Amino acid sequence: MNLDRKAALLGGQDMWTLPAAPEIGLPSLVTSDGPIGVRGARWMAGDPALALPSPTALAATWDVGLVRRAGEVLAAECRRKGVHVLLAPSVNLHRTPLGGRHFEFFSEDPLLTGEIGAAYVAGVQSGGVGVTVKHFVANDSETERMTVDVQVDERTLRELYLAPFELVVRKAAPWGVMAAYNGVNGVPMCEHAGLIEGVLRGEWGFDGIVMSDWTAARDAVRCALGGLDLAMPGPGSVYGEPLARAVLEGLVPEEILDLKVARLKALFARVDLADRESEDGAALAREIAARSFTLLTNDGVLPLDPGRKVALIGGPAADPRVTGGGSAMVFPDHTVSPLEGLTAAGVDVAYSRGADASATVAPAVMAATATARDAAGRVLGEFPLKDGALLWLGTLPVPYEELHTVEISGVLDAAPGWNTLAVQGVGRFTLEANGRTLFDGAVRPDADDPLAGFFFPPQHEVLADLPGPVVVSLVHTVRHAPEPPFFVGFALCHREPRPTTGRMITQAVEAAREADVAVVVVGTSKEVESEGFDRTSLKLPGRQDELVSRVAAVNPRTVVVVNAGSPVEMPWRDEVAAILLTWFPGQEGGHALADVLTGAAEPGGRLPTTWPAELADCPVINVTPEEGVLRYDEGRFVGYRAWDRHGTAPAFPFGHGLGYTTWSYDEIAVDGLEVTVTLTNTGPRPGREVVQVYLAPDEPGDRPARWLAAFTTCAAQPGETVSVTVEIPRRAVEVWTERGWEAVPGAYRVLSGLSVSPTRLKI
Ligand code: BGC
Repeated sequence: MNLDRKAALLGGQDMWTLPAAPEIGLPSLVTSDGPIGVRGARWMAGDPALALPSPTALAATWDVGLVRRAGEVLAAECRRKGVHVLLAPSVNLHRTPLGGRHFEFFSEDPLLTGEIGAAYVAGVQSGGVGVTVKHFVANDSETERMTVDVQVDERTLRELYLAPFELVVRKAAPWGVMAAYNGVNGVPMCEHAGLIEGVLRGEWGFDGIVMSDWTAARDAVRCALGGLDLAMPGPGSVYGEPLARAVLEGLVPEEILDLKVARLKALFARVDLADRESEDGAALAREIAARSFTLLTNDGVLPLDPGRKVALIGGPAADPRVTGGGSAMVFPDHTVSPLEGLTAAGVDVAYSRGADASATVAPAVMAATATARDAAGRVLGEFPLKDGALLWLGTLPVPYEELHTVEISGVLDAAPGWNTLAVQGVGRFTLEANGRTLFDGAVRPDADDPLAGFFFPPQHEVLADLPGPVVVSLVHTVRHAPEPPFFVGFALCHREPRPTTGRMITQAVEAAREADVAVVVVGTSKEVESEGFDRTSLKLPGRQDELVSRVAAVNPRTVVVVNAGSPVEMPWRDEVAAILLTWFPGQEGGHALADVLTGAAEPGGRLPTTWPAELADCPVINVTPEEGVLRYDEGRFVGYRAWDRHGTAPAFPFGHGLGYTTWSYDEIAVDGLEVTVTLTNTGPRPGREVVQVYLAPDEPGDRPARWLAAFTTCAAQPGETVSVTVEIPRRAVEVWTERGWEAVPGAYRVLSGLSVSPTRLKI
């Protein structure tokens, strides 16, 4: 291969692929996001993908066997879609609940994060598909994410932020790692020879490819010398022509390119997309969801007694958020809402909306068609849509240069009266209903970020007095971007005539008063929890808190279901009979919710992150860089390690979660690094328990009071006693010093129990 071809092979050819190199037998490498499903190279509604529960949910299962199965099913999705490398998992940490991608990371604890990440990788790779463990490293928040320089001391970096990557590399030997946007201690991660060549490859023996995050590679020479193998996306990445020139100028030795090409060849030698058996993805999505649902409180109202009349309340009960936003979003071929799930399970439900999580108008519920045309009005292609939203990114289904307009059209099943229609997107639009023009003009972006119009599109609302069902059409004139990534994203949105929120809350309260049980589903929205920005508040959006309090005031059997990927404040938590977290539960979430509420399944989740009562109590909330620098001044005191030190009680501690039975922890026996915990199911039902083992040094010195050292799951029948044995890794008693890892001698107590909270632990 000549120099130009080698250099070209290392940079993206488009949004998701590398160029093929037939002369050395390499096809074009296809990558795809992301952690909970596989979009495929064509990310569009016409090419649906299985949507599993969000990463926080996976971690909430604390079950490496189950997570491995998730990885296997994702590999099957990759094989089906011809994807060689899945851009996942994300093993950054929950440094603070304000982190915008908190829902996409597993936990605040490095061990739990690493173990869940390793199981995920093992599952995907056992299916013949590669991964990129991301985002290496210290990409724990989103503010100024492309450029922020994280200043963090070496010991903290090793013991916290690098630790999950190290565990995954050593345990699951991933075939790829993604270098992050941010810098660490002054060096951008795509150029960080110290961490990529020194630590990742040198110390840990990583032998896979290092790929840039999207547009994160900014300098051919520094990236090539820093250890970055592949620069994504393309065309126009810093690899390709700039890299070839750097070699000719003597700035980069050609052997470095040979090494990178060899690594790419080695990756292809590992990938095997041949067909093979795999389990049913939808059934697994339902099983994982139920096992991840985390029951925080329960006065006995759950599981529901059969025959109860249920008032189901809340916008997310009918329109749930099943996946997070950004890279973690896929188009599933169907989703099951709480209302549909409970109805299908035969529960006697009456639905009232009460309050919404989002003030924006949702994409119209209709079977629509997208018609792409060129400037002469010639049809370039027609594509079915599942609703009024269209999202094409990267490889478009029609030639981008020829594309002039895209029209979304269909029959909208509107109720007679004042409907709200909305144009969502950036650029020129014409909206018509039954041939009448309702809007003809431009919608401008809210932010400068070129992708903002794609991920966070503005809306223009129009009130229209409609006679009933109407033929609607929204034509968007495409403004061509000068350079990739190319995308077309806009939506025709619709809201039926409805009372004001105040009136809807009053109706919901009346419905709750009449019912035996009120189930209120509340949640976050894509405006407050997504990729690309951090959160500024942990409050539930809109009037949802008021809704819960008012319902709870009239019905003592009020169950609150929280549909959010990360912590929210729950000021009403002592007013309600039960609180169940369902995270972003994936496409089968509604069925899983019915399973858990009726008792067909036990909620299996335990908190992978400390749940604060209020944002102000959180020990770490700073996500805003100063002059481009974000200092991790809190050092190693993050999550429960910090809560313990500050002595503030959270609303619910790390590791907390109730099932439908009770447990007694009878005995902890320690034999070297082996710990055997004996426990008894003391309740009336068969149950599963997550056995968490913590170490607490007698003299913590500058270390936390206690930390997670091992965990496993077990199951027992009523009255049954079981023993489980876990091995404490040596690393659990080591600290990072100037001389490397060193064990700290001294006495350690070994604790196990219902959470990290000292009051629930047994020695
Ligand atoms: C995200 C990555 C993702 C990539 C490709 C980036 O903005 O940070 O997690 O894999 O886009 O979609």
